[in-house]
Amino acid sequence: MTDSQDIEQQAAELRHVLNEHNHRYYVLDTPTIPDVEYDRLFRELQALETEHPELQTQDSPTQRVGAQPLPQFSQVKHDVPMLSLSNAFDDVDVNAFAKRIKDRLGQTDQLAFTCEPKLDGLAVSIRYEQGVLAQAATRGDGFTGENITLNVRTIPSIPLKLQGNDIPGLLEVRGEVFMPKAGFDALNQRAIKEGTKTFVNPRNAAAGSLRQLDSRITAKRHLAFFAYATGVKSEEHVQHTHGEMLEQLRHWGLPICPENRVVANIDACLSFYQDIADKRNSLPYEIDGVVYKVNRYDLQDALGFISRAPRWAIAHKFPAEEELTRVNDVEFQVGRTGAVTPVARLEPVFVGGVTVSNATLHNMDEVKRKDVRIGDTVIVRRAGDVIPEVASVILERRPEDATSVELPAHCPVCGADVIKLDDEAVARCTGGLFCQAQLKEAIKHFTSRKAMDIDGLGDKIVEQLVDEKFVTNIADIYQLSHPKLASLERLADKSAQNLMDAIEQSKKTTLPRFLYALGIREVGEATARNLAQYYGTLEKIESVNEESLQQVPDVGPIVAEHVYYFFRQAHNREIIESLCQSGITWESIPLSTASQALQGKIFVLTGSLSRPRQVVKEALLSAGAKVSGSVSKKTDMVVVGADPGSKYTKALELGIDIMEEEAFINHITDLGVKLP
Ligand code: IVH
Repeated sequence: MTDSQDIEQQAAELRHVLNEHNHRYYVLDTPTIPDVEYDRLFRELQALETEHPELQTQDSPTQRVGAQPLPQFSQVKHDVPMLSLSNAFDDVDVNAFAKRIKDRLGQTDQLAFTCEPKLDGLAVSIRYEQGVLAQAATRGDGFTGENITLNVRTIPSIPLKLQGNDIPGLLEVRGEVFMPKAGFDALNQRAIKEGTKTFVNPRNAAAGSLRQLDSRITAKRHLAFFAYATGVKSEEHVQHTHGEMLEQLRHWGLPICPENRVVANIDACLSFYQDIADKRNSLPYEIDGVVYKVNRYDLQDALGFISRAPRWAIAHKFPAEEELTRVNDVEFQVGRTGAVTPVARLEPVFVGGVTVSNATLHNMDEVKRKDVRIGDTVIVRRAGDVIPEVASVILERRPEDATSVELPAHCPVCGADVIKLDDEAVARCTGGLFCQAQLKEAIKHFTSRKAMDIDGLGDKIVEQLVDEKFVTNIADIYQLSHPKLASLERLADKSAQNLMDAIEQSKKTTLPRFLYALGIREVGEATARNLAQYYGTLEKIESVNEESLQQVPDVGPIVAEHVYYFFRQAHNREIIESLCQSGITWESIPLSTASQALQGKIFVLTGSLSRPRQVVKEALLSAGAKVSGSVSKKTDMVVVGADPGSKYTKALELGIDIMEEEAFINHITDLGVKLP
């Protein structure tokens, strides 16, 4: 073999290996080599191709990084037109579709369908010649599209070369290019950081990315692809059903949506719709419905087409999640922590299956970024269970008298100053619990299911209790009497008694619930549980300092600061005192659990300590901790005395927690450790 043959073979081998690893990584999701190894092989091939440009091929993975920008896209004619689908919006439409098919085929037997999610991206047709990706085009008007070959080559899950046997000389694969939700979020995060325009939804982002004349830009966007059909084929396929064809495409290395199913009849299609609707939010990509296709090809052929859609398929759409409407006003709502949130009052509109008349604008930065003004026509979005939001403004429809939105200087509820700290996106009312809005929210939180769990104390009652001044702080809940409750509007005698019983019952609680109920900033359920488990008693939590708090799992400096200052406020202590006086109790947490915080932890002592090293060491050992002589990644904490040496530097390097001796001794005594 000559040298050049040798090099040629080496390049071919590298291409083959790299393409295979690429498929394992992006399609099968089961990589077998680490990323660095892939990069090494990739660079090896790149070097070979730079030295011998004649060895470069269309199916080389080096072609995925993008090429010089094009002046414009050329046109591609589709030999088999790219059709669209008719739509169904409910079960009635779907049953009518099945009936039309049966009538036309003159058959009453069960009809099998393939069911596929309807991906929300854009259709492309990819042409493989002798198994090698030769051309890719957009759908365009269905008959002529744009040549986007260079861009499609950059999409990692699309094979540059098909795998396996029996590959037709010519094969057009059709499917959807889309941007997974994670890639979309990352792209928009980056745009916000760089102050550039964000995309409204993943479909627009996918379309914008694929229609780039500069394919190097496309290569940086996280695009994906699922195949769902074929176009021109040089050989008649041997498959008899659409399901078998998808399976064949999968064997050739093409990504196929893992949710696809073949089902026995139209009722099963409807259950597929329900299943997919239920898991829609947890899917890593956006879909806007599902597609049913008659599974047998002979039946598809018999049914044919009507205008530009097949008779054998239908898209069963989810209710629209985006609609246009008008912003009638923008008001500011005050939340439990005083956050002042702009809310758009909308002309009511049916979106995502419900009528929406309010949508959050999140904060003033968002209002400015989206440039929302009163009078504007906007796109409202309601996806799944999330709060409806204003996605963007249709600037072309802005009326001349549209008014811009300003942050009020004073709280719309209590009149206290509204301030916005530079490093926070939200503005806050400074009224604290004197602000009726904050008080109402604090009480709603205090009585909620995961907190004190007072059944029957709904939002409407809380609002009346505050408006009537029956309740001026959370502790007042336990001072309510039956006559007071019964005097409220819409609260019958019996309900008032039930509520009194529920209040009484709530007094028996747990420390994590109580802590969570207090509504300390940044202390959610999990943090409350961690604090309770770490310290065991409320008294301890009230007395420890910020440094100690930061030792609790998942508590960082910000949470520690909020907790520390909460318990330093006299009125908070008074309220806690009053709550405990009214009979709130919880079972104590055994101290053994509390001091488990030290169990198995590895400590290193360094520098000269003010007490004998042995004393500290024994105290730690007796609490189940370990003391080691050297710092490594496994070390949990380094305790430093005066003039620490290299162990201290090493701990800094490795990012290991460091505590000064005195703070450390206070911390472990708080945890119940006794120094001998
Ligand atoms: S089949 C002849 N299957 O929906 C049938 N289309 O409204 C051709 N789409 O342009 C389409 N997911 O962009 C089919 N699983 C799927 C699909 C799907 C999304 C899109 C596609 C097409 C549009 C038709």
